[in-house]
Amino acid sequence: MSINELETKLKAANQVQILSAYNRADDETKKELMNQIERINFSQVADLYETTKHEVNFNNDVIEAIPYVEKDKLSEEEYNKYLKLGEDEIKAGRYSVVTMAGGQGTRLGHKGPKGTFDIGLDSHKSIFEILIDSLKEESQKYNVTIPWYIMTSKENNEDTVKFFEKNNYFGYDKDSIKFFQQGKLPMVDESGKILINEKGLIKEASDGHGGIFQSMKRNGITDDMNKKGIKWAFVGPVDNVLVKMVDPILLGLMIEQNASGGGKSTVKANPSEKVGVFCKRNGKPGVVEYTEISKEMAERVDENGQLVFGESHINCNMFSVKAIEEVANKNLPYHIAHKKASYIDENGNLIVPEKPNAYKFESFIFDAFDMLDDMAILRVKREEEFAPVKNAEGTDSPETARKLYENYKNNK
Ligand code: UTP
Repeated sequence: MSINELETKLKAANQVQILSAYNRADDETKKELMNQIERINFSQVADLYETTKHEVNFNNDVIEAIPYVEKDKLSEEEYNKYLKLGEDEIKAGRYSVVTMAGGQGTRLGHKGPKGTFDIGLDSHKSIFEILIDSLKEESQKYNVTIPWYIMTSKENNEDTVKFFEKNNYFGYDKDSIKFFQQGKLPMVDESGKILINEKGLIKEASDGHGGIFQSMKRNGITDDMNKKGIKWAFVGPVDNVLVKMVDPILLGLMIEQNASGGGKSTVKANPSEKVGVFCKRNGKPGVVEYTEISKEMAERVDENGQLVFGESHINCNMFSVKAIEEVANKNLPYHIAHKKASYIDENGNLIVPEKPNAYKFESFIFDAFDMLDDMAILRVKREEEFAPVKNAEGTDSPETARKLYENYKNNK
């Protein structure tokens, strides 16, 4: 792109502050900035900014309870049926695991990717090693090497890959682990102007875990799965040290119900717990966030005294590869986060704001659920499958996760 074209493009997009940044930059930065300008869809950014001016109104949505199956209450016959259906797929090499490790982990405050964090076990194993331990165990059990795909972000990709290399992939087959980067979007200020970062480049932020579907397609992950004959992918977070990444029961249930998606739930600890819950929204599977749900709905119980909206979404889901490809062809809605973001102003000065000054746009994985034909929901035990590492201290911290992990391992 010539300088004239650049100028015309940025003027048309009403983003001339980027031109000032370009004029100030050294040759190397100019090149990188030009790449960004060519890649970024400015009209999409303008549309996203417009959405910050309107409140989203869910009031017209019809929200109902979603049917679920409780793992612990399955009859022996049902259990064995699902087990066989799921295990046959795993043994045939049609199963894979995808881990979302592209988050910033701001609440934890660990310098480095969250997966490299040591939660304080006697062994001092990192979260990545804890996860790989379980993958090794399952691979051995089924006599296959389960392919592991790890989604990183632009910020943490290099550190993540180096960590695995340094640790010799923790003894897992190196070729069965693939990293891919999630997408990113520019951050804008409160008037819609794209921000410039400390390096003089366009300030971009990860586009949220909902970006996983398009990232998998863009980075050739779904193609790789198809080439290997993989039909199913468990998609889970990096920050749950009890995540059960290989669950033949959930897979068997999906196959039995002919559903292209499956989700694990744990029962909500109490009606006001701040978690999203699975639901049917306008007849399709979905998640209703705690900010969206009324007190009456949150407290509603059925004839057995069970919460009607009690199936917490713990971000442990499974999809057919076909469903991932279908979702990747569509656009998920973006959610707006109002954030404090430092930037370089038009005069080249670094501005460090004291209050939120910018918008970040993120899509969430559960916004894809209504694009699936159906979802099988499996309620599992919290103490067996849910030990999140979110905050540095207090609830959902390394300390609570460590205790849950140790308890589970000691009682196994
Ligand atoms: P969270 O939403 O808890 O975010 O991610 P986080 O980045 O880990 O932590 P905070 O909110 O900044 O403190 C849930 C899971 O989704 C992944 C995270 O890595 C984690 O496994 N994630 C989140 C992504 O892969 N990409 C994203 O853009 C956001």
